[in-house]
Amino acid sequence: MLETARVGYAFGLNPEGQLVHTYWGPRLPRSEDYPRPVSVPEWASFSPAAHLITEEYPAEGGPKYIEPCLKVHFADGTRDLDLRYQAAHWTDGTLQVQLRDAVYPLQVTLHYRPHPSHDLIERWTTLHNGGDEAMVLDRVWSAQWHVPAGEQDRLSHLTGRWNDEFRLHREPLTPGVKVLESRRLTTSHHHNPWFALDRGQAGEETGEVWFGVLAWSGNWKLAAEVTDFGQNRISLGLNDWDFAWRLQPGATFQTPASLGGFTPAGFGAASRCLHDFIRQDVVPRGQEVRQVLYNSWEATAFEVNEASQVELAEVAASLGVELFVVDDGWFHRRDSDARGLGDWWPDEQKFPDGLQPLINRVKGLGMAFGLWLEPEMVNPDSDLYRAHPDWVIHYPARARSEARNQLILNLGREDVQAYLIDLLDRLLRQHDISFIKWDMNRNVSEPGWPTAPGDPRELWVRYVQGLYHVWDTLKARHPQVVWQSCSGGGGRADLEILRRADQIWISDNTHAPARLEIQEGFSQVFPASTMEAWVTDAGHEQVPLRFRMHVSMTGTLGLGGHLAHWTADELELAREEIARYKTLRHIVQFGNQYRLRAAQQSAFSAVQYVTKDQTEGVVFAFRTHLARPTTLPPLLLQGLDPDALYEVEGVPGARSGAAWQHVGLTLKLADFESTVRTIRRVGD
Ligand code: GLA
Repeated sequence: MLETARVGYAFGLNPEGQLVHTYWGPRLPRSEDYPRPVSVPEWASFSPAAHLITEEYPAEGGPKYIEPCLKVHFADGTRDLDLRYQAAHWTDGTLQVQLRDAVYPLQVTLHYRPHPSHDLIERWTTLHNGGDEAMVLDRVWSAQWHVPAGEQDRLSHLTGRWNDEFRLHREPLTPGVKVLESRRLTTSHHHNPWFALDRGQAGEETGEVWFGVLAWSGNWKLAAEVTDFGQNRISLGLNDWDFAWRLQPGATFQTPASLGGFTPAGFGAASRCLHDFIRQDVVPRGQEVRQVLYNSWEATAFEVNEASQVELAEVAASLGVELFVVDDGWFHRRDSDARGLGDWWPDEQKFPDGLQPLINRVKGLGMAFGLWLEPEMVNPDSDLYRAHPDWVIHYPARARSEARNQLILNLGREDVQAYLIDLLDRLLRQHDISFIKWDMNRNVSEPGWPTAPGDPRELWVRYVQGLYHVWDTLKARHPQVVWQSCSGGGGRADLEILRRADQIWISDNTHAPARLEIQEGFSQVFPASTMEAWVTDAGHEQVPLRFRMHVSMTGTLGLGGHLAHWTADELELAREEIARYKTLRHIVQFGNQYRLRAAQQSAFSAVQYVTKDQTEGVVFAFRTHLARPTTLPPLLLQGLDPDALYEVEGVPGARSGAAWQHVGLTLKLADFESTVRTIRRVGD
């Protein structure tokens, strides 16, 4: 039995000695309440017991036809596993359950770490080859989550594409297997390794929801299976597509972690559970206030030089910006996306005296300095590629397909890792850099590795391990740096990258109405503190600056417009809103988030944040375009103490938290009008 504050999870040995899942849901009052595993009789010769039991971590082997978590082939050609329970013990808050194949020297350990205050259970698996012959792992997933079946079960997931990430889908879960995955080397814009499962009726604040994530930044797979006997099984793990791992004698392989949670209180509560966990346990600087930043990309693109950046920096500082980030275009021969990637030193023409004079100027203006990098990439037109053409992912006899004129360095290679660590370490040692935007702007093709140490298909995993190693090493050596994960926007957003990155650039789409929808999808999993959101010039003809500011203020505010082109009135407005944001950001970044009205469903949307002590809150409401005449429905506030008295900015008189929740806040908004209202507890 694993218990968190409100959740129980149980599994055990059935009379046949198999490890069987029995319960996941609300915590039960007495330990005897949790069901014990029982024998399951065969139903027919076509449906033997092995197929029917809810095995905790089913391996391929014997007469079962469900999705297994583990597929292995042994040196003698056997592709069948017979895992037997050995022992279980607790170490450092983690339960380890050891299984062993009945014949072959394969040890499988299931690891469970409950996170009591977050109502999450973290699971991962390790495999150890105790023999003297290699064995090949064909599939090795992190976990299978058994979600009790209801009548009208629904799967929620996030899909999208570049410039349009994190679109929420809810669909009936029907018999068969629904697969979500990445085959792109990164987490991907296309699906995110997250799921939620409900009975078909859960809402934002009501209803039972089971949910989970995979903490991995490479190829992954989620298989949501409803078996022929109506069992729901959600498996998460490394993608087994084009995958193999040769487990050498004496070697151990560890999977990424999957986290699962349950709440009786709707999708909003599920998100808040993940938000708190991410802030408290995942993000390195998850408890620190995120700075208001300026990013130069949409203003100056590749026209980066001291003069163009100083011009922006001066205006940015006068508005209250705290961190000035120079994006792409600053390094050796980088005049367009056609060349330069790989040569990470300042361009001699643009910065004849190096970057330090600009950094000094930015610091003199009272701001910290940040820089864009895309370490995993190389343009064929670069010194690095000319010196090391064999360092990229490729097949010798195939063309190397370029995307955005670039190829991918094979970060699985130790020499590539060492080169990057050395070069970037030097860059960080020689300059006063407080922030790095780590970008990754293409997906993989021709995934060859001619000199691979093991099976060449290990590339998919070794690459990501190499990425983590490079990033971790740089982090350890430069603890002052705050990091951002970007992959052409939201292509690499997951819980494992967030162990390195403090914030995420969630989309290259900065058009505010689109952004509202993307941000809302992102919030299903990730807290506002990790969501970098810039106000740019996108859509400025139609969407007022105040609206654009408010959209970005629901996350970690940044600016990305061409400030030199902004009018005096616009600059004044930006200054005011930035100052306002600084008075609100502790609520937005660290408070509980409530999606009051969904931007992906309605042109009238709202999101609210409330501090943990329920003394302060803020609500943001947006109307994009609605046909007239329109009366907006009242906004039913959430998360307030029902018996305490609260004032909402702009509304005379205090009301109880219960009144704000059930009577609501009436607003009048025109098209592309927004409002920000603070909420203050004024009495008990
Ligand atoms: C990607 C990023 C952008 C910007 C450009 C620079 O598209 O998502 O924010 O950094 O690269 O080339």
